[in-house]
Amino acid sequence: MIRARDVHFSFPGREVLHELTIDVEESLTTVIVGRSGIGKSVFLKCITGLLRPQAGSITIDGEEVVNAGRAELRSIRRKIGMLFQEGALFDSLNVKENVAFPLVYHKSATPREIDMKVDSYLDLVGMRDSATSMPQELSGGMKRKVAIARAMILEPRYLLYDEPTSGLDPASSAIVESMIKRLQEERAITSLVVTHDIDLTRFIADRIALLEDQRIIAQAGREDGFREDSPIYVHFIKNRERIRAENGY
Ligand SMILES: Nc1ncnc2c1ncn2[C@@H]1O[C@H](COP(=O)(O)OP(=O)(O)O)[C@@H](O)[C@H]1O
Ligand SMILES: [Mg+2]
Repeated sequence: MIRARDVHFSFPGREVLHELTIDVEESLTTVIVGRSGIGKSVFLKCITGLLRPQAGSITIDGEEVVNAGRAELRSIRRKIGMLFQEGALFDSLNVKENVAFPLVYHKSATPREIDMKVDSYLDLVGMRDSATSMPQELSGGMKRKVAIARAMILEPRYLLYDEPTSGLDPASSAIVESMIKRLQEERAITSLVVTHDIDLTRFIADRIALLEDQRIIAQAGREDGFREDSPIYVHFIKNRERIRAENGY
């Protein structure tokens, strides 16, 4: 389980998160929704130790991330796969090398094992035929699939997804959505997804949390989250309707 308690994070002169508290429960998919620029990516980076909160606590299976030293962070990161916003592959590495990267970095397998594992994960995401392609040669959807394979290769207990469907066409989004759902169902992976994609949320979320005013202001199960009077539903649907109405549509 990932537990965040009263997390504060500021960039110089700009407070982003203020007393953010949330539990990401085991074997479920939790989706944090919130508008652009609200701090979703910052929060995911705090969980992986890429950014250091100024106060508060984030524990993963009871291990504290906020004050963790280098070695501790490394062991915590081994449990977490992260899909960065836009997929973010290494441009100078081909598909195979991108997917192999976490294994190489953590020195957790022989070259032969790495090869076999990379092939099997490329199969899983349907990208084996592109193993030697460079990222620049791939469509957005293909890059995202490669990035998911890379996030999964250490067989992490936790997967963090930063806007997994943003910028994808509907068909590619549907593939990515199905992939996230399948991983959760078949491998009981604990997933934390941040997004503002309502269709994605409706499809994969077990729990939905709303990030607003620098903290989590509402949480609900999927059913309740999409009820008319839910703050989450209001955020998603009503705000859009209101803005359209204000503009005369
Ligand atoms: N490296 C940075 N330095 C200063 N401000 C940043 C930096 N990265 C993000 N921010 C600011 O922090 C806020 C939250 O950013 P982010 O977490 O990326 O938003 P989201 O992912 O919800 O769209 C934004 O206002 C953004 O401008
Ligand atoms: Mg972001």
